[in-house]
Amino acid sequence: MNPDSPAASGEGWEPLRVAVLGAGHVGLATAACLAKIGHQVVGMDADRAKVASLSGGRTPFFEPGLQEIVEEGLESGRLMFTADTSEALSGAQAAFICVGTPGGPDGTPMLGAVERAAEAVGVFGADGAVVVEKSTVPVHTAERICRVLERMARGRRFHVVSNPEFLREGRAVEDFLRPARILVGADDRRSHEIMRRLYEPLVAEGAAYFATDVCTAELAKHACNVFLALKISFANALAPVCEAAGADVVAVADIMGSDPRIGRDFLEAGMGFGGYCLPKDVAAFKAQTERLGCRFGLLDEIIRINEYALAGVFEKVRESLWNLQGKRVALLGLAFKPDTDDVRSSPALRLAERLMDAGARVVAHDPRAAGNACKELSTLNVADDAYEAAEGADCIVICTAWPEYRSLDLARLKGVMRQPVLVDGRNLFDLAQVSGAGFDYLPTGRPRLSS
Ligand code: UGA
Repeated sequence: MNPDSPAASGEGWEPLRVAVLGAGHVGLATAACLAKIGHQVVGMDADRAKVASLSGGRTPFFEPGLQEIVEEGLESGRLMFTADTSEALSGAQAAFICVGTPGGPDGTPMLGAVERAAEAVGVFGADGAVVVEKSTVPVHTAERICRVLERMARGRRFHVVSNPEFLREGRAVEDFLRPARILVGADDRRSHEIMRRLYEPLVAEGAAYFATDVCTAELAKHACNVFLALKISFANALAPVCEAAGADVVAVADIMGSDPRIGRDFLEAGMGFGGYCLPKDVAAFKAQTERLGCRFGLLDEIIRINEYALAGVFEKVRESLWNLQGKRVALLGLAFKPDTDDVRSSPALRLAERLMDAGARVVAHDPRAAGNACKELSTLNVADDAYEAAEGADCIVICTAWPEYRSLDLARLKGVMRQPVLVDGRNLFDLAQVSGAGFDYLPTGRPRLSS
């Protein structure tokens, strides 16, 4: 932290007492990072086993840098955890709602946990507390939270603000402490002042700060994730066109991305986007726009292209192996992206299921996510390393762009396989690296190489 910042110098800046309800990926990163920048934070989760292990300094999932700042927070006395809502909320000037918002059958998120968290704040929250909507929710959710608070509060007053998170899994700590922007939507001056004070240490370090109204902030969060999904989908729609034309989608993306109006990030063609956020948020925004009576056909197209990207990789395997029945397919990578052990809506798991349904024997490897993958898909066989997964395989599919796979010994891999077929669902390898290795190499949107 900058020694000249008001937070560091202690001049004219007072930390806040904060409660964070929900210790999942967002809640835990938020709690630990708020403690890191100087606030007094209590993280609350109903799962007592999780609270016990957090209180002992052990994080329940892999997120680079998180374990360290949780330990630091506990040692400094600025961070503690409890399963008791009243203890968490007692004296809190800001109460963050970071509970899960899983997608329902029509895409509309299920907000029961948000309602219960709001009820708890209504019962135990301190008069004047700012209630911070951090979970990703549809526009106008804050109004609902206000009504719940009014119903429960009996004379105490609360103010609801929207403060969407823009943390990427695998980069959550870095994204919180060095954010691209901080977004706060509030409809009254006092809430804006409190939220500005909360984030002052980061603003003093140069973070961009957007203060707007609640509705705009809520909508902007969905718009951001949907646009990221759109960008990925553009690259994924371009990939088969490049394959048909004999062009290279990676080179096209480099050329497009060199224009600052376009930007290179999120133009990686592959087997589709996954994770807890992007698929759910596109579906939620589609349901929301329909409810608002607006036509936004692009959203259907994003969903369709994402399905097609996964189907494209499946077809490459089938086309190469002819009959899938009894063939052994090695999947490298199970996490929905590198640097996380999260397999929620992971394209790799969806591919595994599809291959197994078609009669293939699937053996997978992941440096971090194998345990979570087996919980999700109990029929999955996992190997200790990539070479073991490739033993006797008819095909390898790169499903997650873990950097360590880049340095695999391709000759050794080929040596243990039954057929040298390498389908690259993430364009992990350079064409130069693979050429000469003797594989039938099928990347995504790039020219193929034959053995
Ligand atoms: C996403 C957003 O990037 C965050 O800004 C946001 O805060 C977060 O959702 C959220 O709403 O909580 P995250 O789910 O961690 O973050 O994952 P991303 O890094 O966005 O990746 C999503 C998926 O897209 C992954 O499966 C990844 O492999 C895929 N992807 C990403 C591509 O296929 N191509 C790309 O060029 C980029």
